[in-house]
Amino acid sequence: MKKLFIMALLSISLFKAQADEGMWLPMLLGKQVYADMVKRGLKLTPEQLYSINKASIKDAIIIFGGGCTGEIVSSQGLIFTNHHCGYSAISGASTVEHNYLADGFYAYNKDQEIQSKLTVQFLDRIEDVTKEVEDALKGLSNEERSKKIGDVYKSITDKVADKENGLAGRIYAMFKGNQHIMYVYKTYRDIRLVGAPPESVGKFGGDTDNWEWPRHTGDFSIFRVYTSKDGKPAEYSKDNVPLKPKYFLPVSIKGLKDGDFSMIYGYPGSTNRYEISNGIKLKNEIENPSLVGLRDVRLKYMHEQMIKDPAVKLKLADNYASVANYWKFFDGETKQLIKYHVYDQKKAFENKFEAWAKGKPEFENILQDYAKNYADWTPYAKQRQYLIEGILGSHLAGAASGLASLEAKLLNNTTPAADIKKAVEAAAENRKSFIEKEDLPSDEKILAATCMMFYNDVDKSQHPIGFYEGIKAAYGSLNDEATFKKWAHDVFAKTMLLDDARWNAFAAAPTAAALQEDPAFAYASAFIKNYTGKYASLYSAFRNKNDELGRLYMKGIMEMNPDAVKKMYPDANFSMRVSYGNVKSYNPRDAVHYDYVTTSKGILEKYIPGDYEFNLPANQIELLKKRDFGQYIDKSRNDLVINFITTNDITGGNSGSPVIDGNGNLIGLAFDGNYEALSHKIAFDKNLNRTICVDVRYVLWCIDKLGGAKNIINELKLVR
Ligand code: ARG
Repeated sequence: MKKLFIMALLSISLFKAQADEGMWLPMLLGKQVYADMVKRGLKLTPEQLYSINKASIKDAIIIFGGGCTGEIVSSQGLIFTNHHCGYSAISGASTVEHNYLADGFYAYNKDQEIQSKLTVQFLDRIEDVTKEVEDALKGLSNEERSKKIGDVYKSITDKVADKENGLAGRIYAMFKGNQHIMYVYKTYRDIRLVGAPPESVGKFGGDTDNWEWPRHTGDFSIFRVYTSKDGKPAEYSKDNVPLKPKYFLPVSIKGLKDGDFSMIYGYPGSTNRYEISNGIKLKNEIENPSLVGLRDVRLKYMHEQMIKDPAVKLKLADNYASVANYWKFFDGETKQLIKYHVYDQKKAFENKFEAWAKGKPEFENILQDYAKNYADWTPYAKQRQYLIEGILGSHLAGAASGLASLEAKLLNNTTPAADIKKAVEAAAENRKSFIEKEDLPSDEKILAATCMMFYNDVDKSQHPIGFYEGIKAAYGSLNDEATFKKWAHDVFAKTMLLDDARWNAFAAAPTAAALQEDPAFAYASAFIKNYTGKYASLYSAFRNKNDELGRLYMKGIMEMNPDAVKKMYPDANFSMRVSYGNVKSYNPRDAVHYDYVTTSKGILEKYIPGDYEFNLPANQIELLKKRDFGQYIDKSRNDLVINFITTNDITGGNSGSPVIDGNGNLIGLAFDGNYEALSHKIAFDKNLNRTICVDVRYVLWCIDKLGGAKNIINELKLVR
């Protein structure tokens, strides 16, 4: 009874988006969901949402760095995004003495803003190029098609590329390759850090609270785009000027209530809502548990060192945060997929599909072919995960693996001496950045542990030939942890990557033999060559076949239900999307109700003096206790609202996205998803899915009252 009840309640619809599911293409809103958006509270015209002729909201939304979203909030190119999106720029600007990651930073005038290595991309326009692409691929076999598609894309994007103005096109395969959409972007390269809260705000609650509601995190940071004097994208220069944007978002401090309309623009990275049951099984049984087990160990050893020494913490913070973020995600994803019987639901849908496909030659064997493809690859899936997440999870091994291209050049007699010189110089640069970020004690333990885990957990027939035998001969029994520790100790003591004299000797007379003798290189290389020699081709065959079957399966699903196609949205692929929904409370489990906002009271409740994740500095406690919330107070709560939740459909990549009210004003920044819906990449749960947002009033309070940066507040267009 209970199971049935849950299945009915959470049944996912593979045909059409339900409730607030959907990551919509901004230029199709008018045709697909605009009427519903209006019904739900939107007060804007389709033209105000997306237009290629006039300034519209889409002009304020940017790709921030490599994998986040940001938004323009002033006429001088000011950017709001998440703290965790600006994290590496903030840590990169920090030293132990000026630790902006720990203590926060504000530029009180433009001269104090700090140069970064970031870029941002503005969307110029979107074009459907499906016909052009399909015409060029007509009549080709699947194999030829996948070989040629890159060239076809390139010939189309070449036509719109405009280097002088920083414009370039990228084509995204939508609906698993049944549609091809080109987005044209303008990239800016001079991005400066303007402000960041202390970690007691920006990362309050740490990994314990990550992916969880109720939350009390001020996950924001502030940057600015600069251009050349004539307004064009340019490399960093003192003479550059703040960008004059086409459009920026006004900021509303009116506050929100349960049920209010919310719209989120941004760049969701990936979903696989049409994943098949075999994929879920592989994920749940092999891929996710392997990743989680290996990351458990890596995180443990890093954490041990980070809590001992602020310098180590600063050095490892960026890497630790990203490893920990998806460690918790993939652990939770599998737990939720199992809890909600997503495998069974997919199976039930596949049965329907099979019944429909019977007698249709194009479609009737798809699911069998899928099953065979998965069966062929599954025996090797663990090894691949252990290579990526285990062997290469050691920083040293990762850095050593980067020397493979140098080895290839050294092995090739025809490589010109000048090329070798260049490659050695590049390797020296990489070595320098590796050493800057290297923490020896934790990495040596990680090297030993991951090497041993591979030995114990991966099928012996897939081990690199001779490698473990070598360890056994030199260091002792492979069933003894001490053996791996002794071996790792020697690797660290002898590698030229950690020894200037050895490195300089190599760089003066580089040979393949000398490189191959290096124990760190020999180690990484043994495992990579083992993989590329026998398994990489199996993996790419698996992937290619899956892509081919996915495209057909999707085509079949669309033919099976032609009426629903108009209202279908493609999987996330880091192209701009819009999602809409409401501010909304929820019931995570029996007898538990979650409010839709959190308040400053909760920060003080969570405070644990001296704790790694829940500590607060004295000035923050004092200010919160003083309750000087000024214009940022929420009158209905008589408190400062910290975070709120909405029903919007987002995923990783949306981080930093603006949460926009029905009038087009910024009310918050999306920064997380809730634990109960961590299966969202594969199945959107219409009852439990929530997006966790930082209330913009808390952002402004932090800037103004905690940070004293009135200059930033004065730049914004506040709506009261
Ligand atoms: N889970 C968030 C996301 O992926 C990142 C949150 C960063 N905070 C943290 N404590 N790791 O968007």
